[in-house]
Amino acid sequence: YPINHPREQEWSFAGPFGKYDKGQLQRGLKVYTEVCAACHSMNLVAFRTLTDLGYSEDQVKAFAANYEVQDGPNADGEMFMRKAVPSDHFPSPFPNEEAAAASNNGAAPPDFSLIAKARGITRGFPQFVIDIFTQYQEGGPDYIYSLLTGYQDPPAGVEVAEGTHYNPYFANAAALAMAMPLSADQVTYDDGAPQTVDQYAHDVSAFLMWAAEPHLEARKRMGFMVMVFLVIFTGLIYLTKKSVYASKE
Ligand code: HEM
Repeated sequence: YPINHPREQEWSFAGPFGKYDKGQLQRGLKVYTEVCAACHSMNLVAFRTLTDLGYSEDQVKAFAANYEVQDGPNADGEMFMRKAVPSDHFPSPFPNEEAAAASNNGAAPPDFSLIAKARGITRGFPQFVIDIFTQYQEGGPDYIYSLLTGYQDPPAGVEVAEGTHYNPYFANAAALAMAMPLSADQVTYDDGAPQTVDQYAHDVSAFLMWAAEPHLEARKRMGFMVMVFLVIFTGLIYLTKKSVYASKE
């Protein structure tokens, strides 16, 4: 079966000076919360980090309070549920891996904390080459976007297994256990952005990039400073060399 290459998209966070678009991340969070979170956990991401998206601490507190998390054991050695606070992480919608798989035709929905990096397909180059020379970070979001908008009818002659859905962008097989999760007008945006599958897919992919790589902007800034330093340092070394080896005539 063919596996299509992810379709390359424009991302605000691409390139050496790329930055996240907070409005887009807020919309992506909304798509994640209202659609994806029914199946996908994000258990390395703490609610408090949502202040990165431009929310106040009170807003984050109120957001976390929508969730219940497990705590304990208490004095009697029992686990109990309580309202989430900002230091808690996005919980899993399922009690455990088996339950997650059982509700999804045997395939557990993967945790989202690092999915944008885990699926950073690198166009045939080893990851370290990509990291050093191109800073190509967008493979993950390109992939997620392409997957979400890539559901199609199987071509003639291709049979997909019961309970799976044909998608030529899925990296593991011709079909996956996740049905197309998005449809137009499913999530209400309050900033006037179009309520289309295409827009939802872009926004949630950008949000998942932020979840996997929250310090991307600082890292790019640091990379730029290192390059500036190296250029200046090279100049100094050259002048030193010239003066040390200057002819005495
Ligand atoms: C797998 C994204 C909603 C169930 C995946 C994968 C991604 C993804 C990136 C991994 C594909 C891979 O392994 O390469 C999303 C997004 C969603 C969403 C962005 C919201 C817009 C849902 C919902 C459900 C679901 C609502 C359950 C009803 C699954 C399952 C898998 C999966 C079962 C594993 C598929 C397999 O390995 O065959 N999803 N998903 N997803 N998702 Fe979702």
